[in-house]
Amino acid sequence: MMPLDSPISSRRLPEEVPKRIAILGANGRLGKALLARFRNEHTVIPLGRETVDLAHPASIAPNLEALDFDLLILSAALTAVDHCETFEDEAYAVNAEGPREVARICAKKGAKVVYISTDFVFDGAKPDAYTEEDPVHPISVYAASKRKGEDYVMEASEENLVVRLSWLFGPGKPAFPEWIIAKACREAALTLPAEKIGCPSYAPDIAMWLDALIFGTGSVDASGVFHLCNSDPCTWQEWGQYCIDVARACGHPVRVDQIGASTMDSIETFAAKRPVNSAMSTGKFQRLTGITPRPWKEALREHLEGNPK
Ligand SMILES: NC(=O)c1ccc[n+]([C@@H]2O[C@H](COP(=O)([O-])OP(=O)(O)OC[C@H]3O[C@@H](n4cnc5c(N)ncnc54)[C@H](OP(=O)(O)O)[C@@H]3O)[C@@H](O)[C@H]2O)c1
Repeated sequence: MMPLDSPISSRRLPEEVPKRIAILGANGRLGKALLARFRNEHTVIPLGRETVDLAHPASIAPNLEALDFDLLILSAALTAVDHCETFEDEAYAVNAEGPREVARICAKKGAKVVYISTDFVFDGAKPDAYTEEDPVHPISVYAASKRKGEDYVMEASEENLVVRLSWLFGPGKPAFPEWIIAKACREAALTLPAEKIGCPSYAPDIAMWLDALIFGTGSVDASGVFHLCNSDPCTWQEWGQYCIDVARACGHPVRVDQIGASTMDSIETFAAKRPVNSAMSTGKFQRLTGITPRPWKEALREHLEGNPK
């Protein structure tokens, strides 16, 4: 684990004033991509739970008030969806109450907060991609706690940003692709839900688009809610299939040829409900920045072929 808390020196770009960016959740999958993205052009202050523990409010104010920063990206969360279903108090503490305290302190400092949220705030009943204008309807404790966190952060300052992500993968920490490839090398037959639809999202791409959203070309200073993900929604079965196809082409000893279709109901270990469809539209982001997210398959190939951006 990288040492946290000490500011990483930045390289000052000509005609650009570097910002001081605190990243809470710096050891997570997205947190590592954010560090890699911002550390060259800004002064980055990586924060882990040993310094700011969202579950323990007493650790928040003294540590954040002592720091000097312009922007805080709140990527930390209790992300284990089924664990949250059983440990509701912990989920609300980490995903909602802690972020409320963080946002309150940042508002006093005049620092913007970017709260990273989730596609799970939707119930999945919509037949096509969710926009930022669609009503939310969380169907799990994790989703409800994240939704509460969104509200708290936006209540603290209307300058703040809520950015909803989905199905994250990337070089910082193993995710679904690593899990399904390992399973396909061990087992001779596999199934995955064929009805569940979403947008796989590559953490370095998300970090790049967040950079554009936050800093833009000098004129963009976004606030409010945005959806960010790679393009081309797919089913879970299709995602798994493409992962093993690329892995095989890369030389992994994959034993499974075709992943069979199952349903979410058949997964007995799921304590929490998941939205059947959580595909998100990035139209709002595209209109503001002029950037079109690339397809997830391209990003996945880059990731698995060991050529991360
Ligand atoms: N992963 C996905 O597919 C997905 C999808 C949609 C949205 N999101 C959202 O995207 C964000 C980043 O996800 P991720 O995949 O990078 O998550 P992750 O890898 O699980 O990282 C979460 C980070 O939060 C930290 N954390 C957990 N409890 C904490 C606490 N009490 N106090 C302080 N820090 C704490 C963890 O610290 P340790 O390293 O010490 O455990 C970890 O570094 C989250 O807000 C999540 O809700 C993720």
